[in-house]
Amino acid sequence: MGKILVTGGSGFIGSNFILYARSQEMAEIINLDKLTYASNPKSLEQLKNDTGYIFQQGDIGNSTLVLSLLRQHQPQYVVNFAAESHVDRSIFSPQEFIQTNVVGTFQLLEAVRAFYQELLPDQKENFRFLHISTDEVYGSLQAGEPAFSENTPYAPNSPYAASKASSDHLVRAYHHTYGLPTLTINCSNNYGPRQFPEKLIPLMIFNAINQKPLPIYGSGENIRDWLYVEDHCRAISLVLLKGKVGDTYNIGGGNQPTNLELVTQICTILDEVLPRSNFSYQSLITFVKDRPGHDYRYCVNFSKIKQTLGWEPTETLDSGLRKTIRWYLDNLEWLRQCKSQNYDDWVVKNYGDTMGKGESH
Ligand code: NAD
Ligand code: TYD
Repeated sequence: MGKILVTGGSGFIGSNFILYARSQEMAEIINLDKLTYASNPKSLEQLKNDTGYIFQQGDIGNSTLVLSLLRQHQPQYVVNFAAESHVDRSIFSPQEFIQTNVVGTFQLLEAVRAFYQELLPDQKENFRFLHISTDEVYGSLQAGEPAFSENTPYAPNSPYAASKASSDHLVRAYHHTYGLPTLTINCSNNYGPRQFPEKLIPLMIFNAINQKPLPIYGSGENIRDWLYVEDHCRAISLVLLKGKVGDTYNIGGGNQPTNLELVTQICTILDEVLPRSNFSYQSLITFVKDRPGHDYRYCVNFSKIKQTLGWEPTETLDSGLRKTIRWYLDNLEWLRQCKSQNYDDWVVKNYGDTMGKGESH
């Protein structure tokens, strides 16, 4: 494969993708990342002597910087992971989500459009811009409603989902209007190594090993579709190589537990791999105030990518959770690096004093 400009590569999915691509010697990577609170320098530390990996700190909203990077490195692919990605934070501070996810994506597209126009015909033929988006653009499903397909109308409910929906529309428009060879992935909730412990699964692991409450919003009946991050990385390389220009691909993990079932499963695995003599992790489960506008259910129909590109998830929820828990237990230093004043302030803002006291299950 030709070179890839990855944006947001120091975050969760981006760092997993870069490590995956480098371990396969798939392509040289240039990573443009603003290094917000959600990034962790330790995630890509193992590439510090890798000559096929270049890091540049910067904002996708800086189109001058992006264009000069594109001209300097001449990548064949751009994969856009850069975003503000946490729904709860978007409820407290939507502004940053509009800035990066909407305005930033627009500026990035402008730089890529300018670069694309300078390419020779055969380079144009092979160039791809892949935008990583979410199933949350489709809104919320009721029990029994069919899973999200690529034809499901957009109905975003949170400021995060609305900002991602806007970016998807911009990507679509740049293909339709300017002929930019774009691809979009709308994937479900990812989990796995290197995810910042504000999202459900790493938060539960982090709190459990610190014997803190496991805060479940509302009654814990909400449903998500959980995709192991490495399965997603495989799909990304497949879509880059074989995806149909202008198309979108839905990707899911093929399992849909309720949040309470999922957290209970995490506790059961922890009871096995890190047993405590005096309690079971389930006793830490604590029900807290619900998220405003909390989407009830997500479920992704991934039959298009299965039928056209032969992709399907390989991890079950049990095997993926076991790998994830093992990784966090083996990388406590990585977790410690996420702890900062910003993190503590966030916990207080979002959970009040729940993490300190709270009603146990
Ligand atoms: P993340 O929050 O872990 O990482 C985002 C990265 O982008 C960070 O390294 C951050 O520093 C960087 N970034 C933020 N603003 C930037 C800017 N203006 N310029 C350059 N870099 C910037 O996110 P993630 O979970 O890895 O998600 C990656 C992408 O996948 C996002 O676009 C997200 O919307 C999408 N997505 C994520 C999930 C999920 O479950 N994590 C599910 C569906 C879609
Ligand atoms: P999250 O990981 O934030 O992803 P998203 O909101 O993008 O789906 O949350 C996953 C589910 O877990 C969602 O239904 C909200 C719920 N949740 C909790 O119950 N407690 C928590 O502390 C968090 C962060 C999430």
